[in-house]
Amino acid sequence: MTKKFYFLIKKCYTIIYRKGISILFNSFSSSRERRGKLSAEGLIYILLIKKNYCKFLIFNFLNFMSKFIIEGGHQLSGEIEVKGAKNSALKIIPASILSSEEIKITNLPNIEDVNKSLNLLSTIGAEVNNTKDGVIIKTNNIKSANLSPEIAGKFRASIMFVGPLLARFGQAIFPMPGGCNLASGAKRPINLFLDGFEKFGAQIKKQENYYELSATRLKGCDFFFPVVSVTATESLMMTATLADGVTRLRNCAMEPEIKALADYLNENGAKIDGAGTPTITITGVEKISASTFEVIPDRIETGSFAIMAAITKSNLLIKNCNPEHIEILLEIFNHIGVPFEKHKNAIEIKEAKKILPYSIKTHEYPGFPTDLQSPYTILMTQANGTSLIHETIYDRRLLYTDMLMQMGADITMCDPHRVVINGPTKLYGKKLASPDLRAGIALVIAALVAKGTTEIDNIYQIDRGYEDIDTRLRKIGANIMRINSLKL
Ligand code: EPU
Repeated sequence: MTKKFYFLIKKCYTIIYRKGISILFNSFSSSRERRGKLSAEGLIYILLIKKNYCKFLIFNFLNFMSKFIIEGGHQLSGEIEVKGAKNSALKIIPASILSSEEIKITNLPNIEDVNKSLNLLSTIGAEVNNTKDGVIIKTNNIKSANLSPEIAGKFRASIMFVGPLLARFGQAIFPMPGGCNLASGAKRPINLFLDGFEKFGAQIKKQENYYELSATRLKGCDFFFPVVSVTATESLMMTATLADGVTRLRNCAMEPEIKALADYLNENGAKIDGAGTPTITITGVEKISASTFEVIPDRIETGSFAIMAAITKSNLLIKNCNPEHIEILLEIFNHIGVPFEKHKNAIEIKEAKKILPYSIKTHEYPGFPTDLQSPYTILMTQANGTSLIHETIYDRRLLYTDMLMQMGADITMCDPHRVVINGPTKLYGKKLASPDLRAGIALVIAALVAKGTTEIDNIYQIDRGYEDIDTRLRKIGANIMRINSLKL
């Protein structure tokens, strides 16, 4: 359920409720005698509405109405396990469409975006079964290539369904995807996807609220990405696996999630060469089989936990992660005085004495990830000196710094892409609302070091990407509570 839908329903209920009051007082009555007098009919009307309205809110909007109450100043300790990567899970689910065989996905994080993606897959006819050790997906019965705007229109990764649908069924109908509004303009663009599909020979019809793509047979092509894009690289790579002939993609993104996807597809008959480098060559095959895919550990969650430990001057063992995937953050830890030890699948962060400033510029992998920019910015508010944060990927990803200033941080915004931070400054608990997923977790981190209590509203945004984060943080000593409040 989304905010917009929620407000629409709420509005309808309000109108009906008001109408109930009008009937109750007979203000609609044509008879002068009855007007202004109480009516039993109106009373029943209101009670019914109130009851259903409450049920509706309770069952559908608890998360939307939830907030975190965090008391800062507690050290963390012990160990925390990293969950599967959201941005890997969101690609393997649509990749299941490429094959008609059964796929099992393990280590899937239980988060909003993944549930939406599985839900979207079910709506087109796939069978999705949750088992003890993973999700089993059967796509042999897919009936439709038409993605529901109610679901697909609400999250960015729904665009990942288009390539596989086009490749297997020669058709895809989809709305403009939603998700965090991070780029300037109403929604994040999809021009790279459309240009790519067109190069494969697909016909694109843009209707008022949706796109209709069709192709009798996709043909391998040469495509140069004018902008490096993770999802567009993955999308065209998947599409090419079932196209005729050879496809060469250049200036590709190199994120580990792309390589993990390519490795899985290759194990199942695809011919993809070079994933994880700027040039990927794909030789199309007739069909792809399916097997088990284990979602790789979430490197952004790993980095977020490492920063939480560093900022709270804690000793923390971060388990089930791949330290190589956050090499850049660990390299910076060497410069800023955060001691750590790397193990094969774990990182031990040791208590930092004094944090030094270090400027960063976000960059495609293996550079500093934009998704870790906001947690790192919080860390710099506690560093001894001045640092510059340069966000190069998205136009709107520094807007949350306004909230940090309200908490007491000394931050100067130079332009939408750069902020200068003077640290260290004491942060103070405040009432805030999470603007998006990554800014949301950053506010949680800020709250962990702030003096007093911070209230973070709209935590639905955080739940989209971090599984049961409050329970997991409580286990390592954070004082964080989830409050499910009903705002009628
Ligand atoms: N871009 C275009 N046209 C397109 C697509 C992208 O101009 O058709 C631009 C974007 O506006 C942006 C740049 O390309 O300026 C890079 O965006 P990219 O396409 O790489 O982003 P994405 O693929 O949509 C993925 C992650 C993001 C992560 C970025 C960068 C998924 C589902 N999303 O997004 O994750 O920030 O790569 O690493 O994989 C998040 O997890 O919070 C998140 C936003």
